Amino acid sequence: RDRRPIIAIDGPAGAGKSTVARSVAKQLGLFYLDTGAMYRALTWFVLEAGVDLRDEPAVAELAHQCEIDFQTDTAIPVVLVNGQDVTQAIRTPEVTAHVSTIAAQAAVREALVKQQQSYGRRGGIVVDGRDIGTHVFPDAEVKIYLTASIQERARRRQLDLKSMGQPAANLADLEQAIFERDRKDSTRTISPLRKASDAIEIQSDAMSVADVLNTIVSLYQEKTASLSLDSLEI
Ligand code: CDP
Ligand code: CDP
Repeated sequence: RDRRPIIAIDGPAGAGKSTVARSVAKQLGLFYLDTGAMYRALTWFVLEAGVDLRDEPAVAELAHQCEIDFQTDTAIPVVLVNGQDVTQAIRTPEVTAHVSTIAAQAAVREALVKQQQSYGRRGGIVVDGRDIGTHVFPDAEVKIYLTASIQERARRRQLDLKSMGQPAANLADLEQAIFERDRKDSTRTISPLRKASDAIEIQSDAMSVADVLNTIVSLYQEKTASLSLDSLEI
């Protein structure tokens, strides 16, 4: 083996992937890659440019002009597009409503997946998204499919918005928006959201963030213990 281990976390919107992935990475001393933030960053860039989101050639062109970077030495991880801090801007309801349209396009996925794979070339990384275990890192040592009921995910998203000081959102509207995004993400032709055949499913309705964190850390420790130590120290 020529790289350190990879933990892949996939699942529907609001299941807790990024919260859990960030804490797993911190606990295990691994790098965290938020692939959803990359699709969001490009969506923000396309909206800023005023280009029609369905104009695939124009979006593809923008995908190549959109340089996405992460700053991880800060308390809250910062996302940069061509040097501009877009950490907040990529979480607006407008970006959220359009990201699945951008993420369904072949040229977009090709460009972003290539970047994701180059980040993970040496391993030692926790990656969350929709197609990480199935497509981006199919040989990841630990693959998690993290879910929760749509009611629970809407409730969590409502709490998130509240804590960010955003306008109160109605639970039924949140459920509808999440349902619609999951539908688009799991029915698109290219790399749809799916549980990898070798992924472990965690249904988190009755679990805290710490419960999910501990479950994944244990799975990782079991897995790395069963791989021989010297093959990991590269
Ligand atoms: O955190 P949240 O569930 O709102 O979504 P996200 O992980 O930030 O991802 C935003 C969107 O990006 C998803 O709804 C997908 O359309 C797209 N995405 C994707 O297609 N493939 C990935 N690996 C990650 C995200
Ligand atoms: O990345 P994804 O869209 O899957 O979810 P997220 O952005 O991490 O949001 C999940 C929210 O639910 C966060 O506010 C977490 O604190 C909360 N939560 C969780 O992630 N896991 C649990 N088991 C319980 C709550």
